[in-house]
Amino acid sequence: MKKNSSIKKLLENNKHWAEAVVKDDPEFFSRLSNVQKPEFLWIGCSDSRVPADRITGTQPGEIFVHRNIANMVIHTDMNLLAVLEYAVDHLDVSHIIVCGHYGCGGVKAAMSRHNFDLINKWIRNIKDVYRMHRDTIDYQTKPDERLNKLIELNVEEQVMNLAKTSIVQKAWKNKKKPEIHGWVYSLEDGLIKEICTMTHKDHLDPLYEFDDL
Ligand code: CO
Repeated sequence: MKKNSSIKKLLENNKHWAEAVVKDDPEFFSRLSNVQKPEFLWIGCSDSRVPADRITGTQPGEIFVHRNIANMVIHTDMNLLAVLEYAVDHLDVSHIIVCGHYGCGGVKAAMSRHNFDLINKWIRNIKDVYRMHRDTIDYQTKPDERLNKLIELNVEEQVMNLAKTSIVQKAWKNKKKPEIHGWVYSLEDGLIKEICTMTHKDHLDPLYEFDDL
C-alpha cells in the first residue's frame, strides 16, 4: 500500500513513541491494557491546538475524552450522552471538565451571520447562549472581548447542561460526585482559567431538577 509521506510520518512517530515508552517503563502497556480507571472526563473543543492530555500533563489512562466543535453538551447528542453515562456510571469519574478556549472558531462562527450549512444546526446552540446573555456580551466594547465573554459564558452553560441530565443528578444523589468544572484555555500563553464549578451541593433552577430519581 502506497502512503503519502505525512501519513507515513505518523506511523513512524508511533513506532518511535512505543519504543521509547517501553524503554522507559517496560510494564507500561501490559499495565494499561488490563484496566482503565480514569479520574476525569474531559469535554473539550475539537480544535487541534487544545490537546487534553498535553495541556494538563496527564498520561494515557488518566483522562476519558470527548471532543466536539466548541465543547458543547447537547441533550440530543447520543455520542456525548453515551460518553457521559459510561464515564459517570461505569468508570465512576470524580471530575468532569468542560474546557473551552479563547479564540474558538466555533463560537466565532456562531456570532457571525454566515451560512455554514449543516454546521448551522450545531452552532445554533451557541447562538442561544448569546441570546440568553446578550446584555453581558454586548457590554464589552471590542469584538475580541465579546467573543471571549461568550466563550466563558458558553462553558458555564455547558456545565449547567451537564447538571440538567438525569445521569449527573442521579450520581449527585447516590454518590455525591462528580464535580463539574468549567475552564477556558488560552492559546496565547497555554494557561487555563477556571470559570466555574458545580457540585452535588449546588442547585439548578428547580424546573430542571428531577425529584423522583
Ligand atoms: Co474551538
